[in-house]
Amino acid sequence: GAAVEVDISAIKPGEKLTVEWRGKPVWIVRRTPEQVAALAKMDGELADPKSDRTQYPTPDYAKNEARSIKPEYFIAVGICSHLGCSPSDKFQTGPQPSLPDNWSGGFLCPCHGSTFDLAGRVFKNKPAPDNLEVPPHMYLSDTKVLIG
Ligand code: FES
Repeated sequence: GAAVEVDISAIKPGEKLTVEWRGKPVWIVRRTPEQVAALAKMDGELADPKSDRTQYPTPDYAKNEARSIKPEYFIAVGICSHLGCSPSDKFQTGPQPSLPDNWSGGFLCPCHGSTFDLAGRVFKNKPAPDNLEVPPHMYLSDTKVLIG
């Protein structure tokens, strides 16, 4: 399938742009500095914090805490690794009593309740067997990314 070139210049901090690549939704999330900082505190809650699982092998350049080339931008296929539903996002940080467990925001799959942090890392004891897929991608410039 053809690679997709995306202009990311209009995405504001705390916002998500969805594009289509190979018939799949691909998210480009611009994380705030607070959201990036929060990733460092999540490891103990996550099933695979280092992205070692291989259902969707994480590209080497995204095998880090933020699962991205640039910490500010998270790029992932927006499909749950369980049975393929599309998780919704909750980007607000801080205490949210209505949210499950001690999930503090990120992505929530409505089908069977898998929760993911803002790097698409799945929480422990959830039905989803893997983190969200990071598609192959590269930056063409500060404002353009090539997906695929
Ligand atoms: Fe997402 Fe089952 S499809 S938790």
